[in-house]
Amino acid sequence: MSGTITITFEGEPVEAREGESLAAALTAHGIDAFRTTRCEAERGLFCGMGVCQDCLVEVDGKPNQRACMTRVDRPLSVRREAHARPLAPAMQGQPPATIGDVEVQMPEILVIGAGPGGLSAAIAARRAGAQVLVVDERSQPGGQYFKQLSVGAEAGPPPDRQHREGAALIEEARSLGVELRSGVTVWGAFEPNEFAATAAGRPLRLLPKAAIVATGAYERGWPVPGWTLPGVMTTGAAQTLWRTARRLPGRRVLIAGNGPLNLQLAAELIEGGAEVPAVVEAAPRPGLARLGALLAMARSSPRLIRDGLRYHAARRSGGAAMVHGMVVAGIEKTPAGLQVRLAPAAGTGAERRYEVDAVCLGYGFEPSNELLRALGCGHDFDPVRRQLVTRRDARGLTDMAGVYALGDCTGLGGARAALAEGTIVGLAAAAALGHAAPAGSRAASRRAGRDLARHRDFQKALWSLYAAPAYSSKLATADTLICRCEEVSFGQIEEALGEEMELIGAVKRRTRVGMGRCQGRYCAPVLDALLAERFGRPRDEFSGFAPRIPVKPVAIGDLAGPGAG
Ligand code: FES
Repeated sequence: MSGTITITFEGEPVEAREGESLAAALTAHGIDAFRTTRCEAERGLFCGMGVCQDCLVEVDGKPNQRACMTRVDRPLSVRREAHARPLAPAMQGQPPATIGDVEVQMPEILVIGAGPGGLSAAIAARRAGAQVLVVDERSQPGGQYFKQLSVGAEAGPPPDRQHREGAALIEEARSLGVELRSGVTVWGAFEPNEFAATAAGRPLRLLPKAAIVATGAYERGWPVPGWTLPGVMTTGAAQTLWRTARRLPGRRVLIAGNGPLNLQLAAELIEGGAEVPAVVEAAPRPGLARLGALLAMARSSPRLIRDGLRYHAARRSGGAAMVHGMVVAGIEKTPAGLQVRLAPAAGTGAERRYEVDAVCLGYGFEPSNELLRALGCGHDFDPVRRQLVTRRDARGLTDMAGVYALGDCTGLGGARAALAEGTIVGLAAAAALGHAAPAGSRAASRRAGRDLARHRDFQKALWSLYAAPAYSSKLATADTLICRCEEVSFGQIEEALGEEMELIGAVKRRTRVGMGRCQGRYCAPVLDALLAERFGRPRDEFSGFAPRIPVKPVAIGDLAGPGAG
């Protein structure tokens, strides 16, 4: 049984559960504004997975710490991060690190990302005899899909099947001798066998013989008025609160977006005691014409269909309405909380409003392909799923020698497909390094191939069922922020486009869009779509901003000192 730890926020005591994230502890105590921006706007938890950089706080005097990635393991003194606050000197008089102080690890195979695909690949490669290191930015392995409870059993319901399946995978990797390192942020990829990272505030060089990139995906932005308000977060962030810390994002929560994850979240939050007035789905209500897709899904994965039915039953029993064909068109702060305005996804029709204290937005995902793109791996734009897809062969090898990629970072395919792909890629990477195929590996590879095909069929049918109109800039007003980080509004971008700036780089230089801490992860896809729409250009492999090193913000102090040892 884990205990409680008293932390302070702006000098006031807050009872936290040992092991939970700082974001979870603060949210549970009704604190939703974690920082203020240059424009004096309040921001709070948004992505919940270390991408958006909106939940920055000062922890024990150290500025710019992500509350969602900070584990409460001791009494912490936390302050709201203010944009204008002077930064503490990074080095504080200590000698800087030299290259000789930097920790170096030289695994045979480096797997970046400890989600389903990364773990599965590590297990397969290890079984073949390779020495494998898996690094992940989170405090625990499992990724988004298999995230594990981080607090004691007394905090809420026991782990469910998804937790247990993830725990078994993690245990299998450990027992085989895979080295799992959590809390490692890989921020640079310089050539196929050189990666730069930080771990526990120190630099780390990773020099593998082969690399498997399995960095997953993050939720797409939905730039409408009010989407940056505290209390508005992604579906994944709310799910992380519940599935890791048994905390709720609010008492009354509206869930809106596109895809089945929103439904799962509704079932989970209702289980946790939240009131969910509605689940708002952008896709139209499936009619008889979609029966074929449903049958294809049932054939490919009856278990996932059963899960879906279970989530619907939980939603109904919790009194949450299912609203189809509508999207969030605006969110306003009111004295009582947040007022959400829904508009028809097709553009015309009556609006609806809900009063809630938290809003979860889950409008699909973007692949986390920054490291792959930084390495120079080729990508193609998929106009159907509106995402970049990594060029790979059937074994997951990219067009860079020694660099493999799998799972959602290569194009969205879901956790089940990533698990199957992991086996194929892990075996291939080990074989390429000269490890003989272990007994049973051919059968395992064939089975994984069949599973992969099945889950790809499932995903295809699923997204035909959930086909919905793309984000439209008609949802933005002149003041709506397109770039959360640099606070660049739709009006400012419109102005730049009016000056015939056709290239994303020109708009970036003119407005600072994409120059913020998230490195354009949220604003680039929106800006790209706006440019394609305005100038009638197809989106292609050069979509978005070129990834820049560091692909994740890294403190100078963490790179330069104090020296190790
Ligand atoms: S939203 Fe982060 S840089 Fe634009």
